[in-house]
Amino acid sequence: MKLFLDTANVESVAEIASWGVLDGVTTNPSLVAKEGKDFKKTVIEMCKHVPCVSAQVTATDFAGMKKQGEEYASWHKHVVVKVPMTTEGLKALHYFRSKGIRTNTTLIFSAAQAVLAAKAGANIISPFIGRLDDIGENGMALIGEIMQIWLQYDFDCEVLVASTRHPRHIVDAAKLGAHICTVPVDVFKKLPQHALTDVGLKRFLDDWKKVAG
Ligand code: E4P
Repeated sequence: MKLFLDTANVESVAEIASWGVLDGVTTNPSLVAKEGKDFKKTVIEMCKHVPCVSAQVTATDFAGMKKQGEEYASWHKHVVVKVPMTTEGLKALHYFRSKGIRTNTTLIFSAAQAVLAAKAGANIISPFIGRLDDIGENGMALIGEIMQIWLQYDFDCEVLVASTRHPRHIVDAAKLGAHICTVPVDVFKKLPQHALTDVGLKRFLDDWKKVAG
């Protein structure tokens, strides 16, 4: 499973990329606004660390999405154009596929939307599981449903589990065979941690001091 970082913070991308486990980054307009930095510079800087950086169009009509997406794709070959799941978005996915521009479809909340985006030509679809959990639905059940559908066909489209909230989401997504998981920085930093690892390491080092000492 590929692991992406869900952030617009370049320093966090550099730090986690240095662990050797990072495959990509997903940004969105809210994350970019939170950092308050120049969008183009941020995306280009991130592209130096990972091979796949999602940059979201903010236009809502096909012509506007086409213009923005073509511009983003010209910034760096690692840019993936993020397109919202709307009928205008479907047209844009279809167009970008014909031009060889990679896309990620954002704001997927149903299996029907997932199938449509894949058929239109998306390279990646992003079902938002945390936001479904937030309204009392079962986000991970949607991933199970989508992966079951994906097994029946040969879609050239990866399933990216988005809106993850805790490490268990990443483990459950992996068990279902999801291709990618995007993870917020605070959750990503929890992944390597275990209390018994810390206790065990302290004990080894304390014992070693006795030998060395
Ligand atoms: C994915 O590409 C989105 O940026 C993200 O996962 C949204 O997550 P949120 O529900 O925590 O905002």
